[in-house]
Amino acid sequence: RKLSIIGVPMDLGQNRRGVDMGPSAIRYAGVIERLEQLKYDIEDLGDLVISKPSEETEETSEKENLRNLKEVREGNVALAQKVDDVVQEGRFPLVLGGDHSIAMGTLAGISKHYGNLGVIWYDAHTDLNSGETSPSGNIHGMPLAASIGIGNESLTDIHGYQPKLKPENIVVIGARSVDEGERELIREKGIKVFSMHEVDRLGMSQVMQDALDYLESRKVDGVHLSLDLDSLDPEEAPGVGTPVMGGFSYRESHLAMEMLHDSERITSAEFVEVNPILDEKNKTASMAVGLMGSLLGEKLT
Ligand code: ARG
Ligand code: MN
Ligand code: MN
Ligand code: MN
Repeated sequence: RKLSIIGVPMDLGQNRRGVDMGPSAIRYAGVIERLEQLKYDIEDLGDLVISKPSEETEETSEKENLRNLKEVREGNVALAQKVDDVVQEGRFPLVLGGDHSIAMGTLAGISKHYGNLGVIWYDAHTDLNSGETSPSGNIHGMPLAASIGIGNESLTDIHGYQPKLKPENIVVIGARSVDEGERELIREKGIKVFSMHEVDRLGMSQVMQDALDYLESRKVDGVHLSLDLDSLDPEEAPGVGTPVMGGFSYRESHLAMEMLHDSERITSAEFVEVNPILDEKNKTASMAVGLMGSLLGEKLT
């Protein structure tokens, strides 16, 4: 089994500094050693170079409500090509963030290789905003919308095609902070969302099974996992920029990852929003590495 790791030190999709150090924090938490034990042939492609914001960028932020649009796009264009190459070589892409805006580039690189890609969006948020609906102007709240072709063209056409995803091939798990415009889009497009309400009522085991069955019924030919660490409870994963109370526990999330592994459906993954400046003793990065272990097949016996 071959796997390639790509770090993306992106922090321009939101306004708290430090999430650009996410890839280093995850590496220090031992990601390579951990996955090597699972007998993966691992290639570490290092970190992409993300450029600093320019002045013209401030104008777009004002006018279009899209902070750092130019640099966020450029970073994602570069990421898309890297991920595209990795998939082309038959390797599993594991992307380390960085803020969640990088999902646009990851999906752009992957989706080209699939006719009917599915996505599991494991997140406290739905990231379905655009410049028109965003309360913050932060692009990390927009990658799922951009991937279904909604929003500014410099985000929707990354890697030269759109859309990357069909709305009906998306499953969101863990949502508990959803903006008004996002709510409308969910209704309009019929996007499948398992909020914390469903997880509390049914339990993670049932929700994950339903999510997998749903994607199966959609006849997807690959499934990308996009995991935002703010899906976890901030008590367990404090190193994130937009924490929301009432999140997943360590145990629920490990169960979710094990079920995804056992399904044998996951073809790529990204772990985003680890911010070591806001963290306690690199706890959130360690959590991310543990979850990667479960996703990629760690077992007790
Ligand atoms: N919905 C809020 C916004 O659009 C928060 C988004 C948080 N996204 C994230 N990837 N952490 O500004
Ligand atoms: Mn989030
Ligand atoms: Mn997110
Ligand atoms: Mn199992």
